[in-house]
Amino acid sequence: MEHLLSVDQLDRDDVEHLLAVARAAEPVARRRKVCRALEGAVLGNLFFEASTRTRMSFAAAFCRLGGSVCDTTGFTFSSMAKGESIHDTSRVISGYVDALVVRHPELGAVAQFAQATNIPVVNGGDGPGEHPSQALLDIYTIGKEFERLGKSIDGAHVALIGDLKHGRTVHSLIRLLSLYRDLRFTLIAPPGLEMPSELCEAVGARGHHLEMRQILRQPLEGLDVAYATRIQRERLIDETVEGYTPELRVDHAFLDACCGTDTALMHPLPRDSTPGANDLSTDLDKDPRLAIFRQSDSGVAVRMAIFATLLGVEQQLQGPLRDVTWRSPRRIGPDDAAFYTLDSIVCP
Ligand code: NCD
Repeated sequence: MEHLLSVDQLDRDDVEHLLAVARAAEPVARRRKVCRALEGAVLGNLFFEASTRTRMSFAAAFCRLGGSVCDTTGFTFSSMAKGESIHDTSRVISGYVDALVVRHPELGAVAQFAQATNIPVVNGGDGPGEHPSQALLDIYTIGKEFERLGKSIDGAHVALIGDLKHGRTVHSLIRLLSLYRDLRFTLIAPPGLEMPSELCEAVGARGHHLEMRQILRQPLEGLDVAYATRIQRERLIDETVEGYTPELRVDHAFLDACCGTDTALMHPLPRDSTPGANDLSTDLDKDPRLAIFRQSDSGVAVRMAIFATLLGVEQQLQGPLRDVTWRSPRRIGPDDAAFYTLDSIVCP
C-alpha cells in the first residue's frame, strides 16, 4: 500500500492485517507503553476543512509512534490563498515531511495530492467522497464490541441512519463492511438524503440484503449496530433540510423500543448539539450500549496502524516496549462503561 485514499484499495485480508496491527498498537495508544518506531519522522497534517478528532488523532497517533507533526489548517493561512495549485503544494510539502494526511472539501482532491508525491498520502476526508481511516476505526470498534458480546461481523444486522447522501463516513463504511459475508443493512434516511443508488447496487451485488426506510421508529429485528450520522449541512446544495425532525432523533426511547439490549450505538461524531438539530441525544450518555467514545478512542490505535503499515514499521509494535513513566487515570471519561478502562488492553 503506497497511499490510503479509498477503502476500495483494500480486500478483507488487508483490513484484517491493519486491524491486527491496531491491536498491537493498543498498549501504546492507551498510554501504557512507549514506542519510538517513527523517531525522527515528521508528519504533514493538512486540513482544509473543519476537523477536531481526525486531525488530532492522526497527530496523536504519529506522536505516539515517536514522530513529530507539522500542520496547517484552512485555506486562509496556506499559499493556496495565493493561487498555488494542489500539485505544487503537495510537492513542496513532501520536501519537508515523511507522510501527509490531507482533508479537503472537494471530491478527488486528496488523490491529486497523492499524484504529485512519492511519500504516503492518507485521505482524511475528501468532500462527500470517502473517509477510509474512519471506516477502518468503525470496523475495529464493531469488532471489539462484538468480541465482548460473542458475535461476528459476518451475518450482522447494521442500521445506517441519517444523511446517507452526503456522509462520507457511511459511504466508506458500507463499502468496507461489504467485504464481510451476508450482512443485512437497514438504511434509514430522511427524504432526499438517501444513500446513492450506485453504492446500494454495489453492496447488493456482493450478496448483502438491503432495506431502505424513511421512518426511524419501527422495530429493527436482531439489530447489532445502529450507526447514526449528522446532517452534513455544509454539503447541502438544493436540499432544504435544516435538521432532523424529532421523529428521526436517535434517543433512549428509540433504542429501547426498536433496538436490542446488546445493540451497539455508534456515530462518527461530532454530534450536532445546536437547538433543533435533533442529532443523537445526550439522554444515552450513561447507557453502556453507547459506543461513541470507545469508537473515537479507537482512532488513535487504528491511525497508528495505518502509519506503521505505510512506513513499514509494524513489526516494531510487537515489542518489547517500555512502560510509560507518567500517571494516567484508569477510566478516561466519568460516564465510561464499567468494562471499559485504560488497562483493559486487548492484546493480539
Ligand atoms: C466526520 C467527517 O468529517 O466526515 N467526522 C469525523 O471525521 N469523525 C463526520 C461528520 O463531520 O459528520
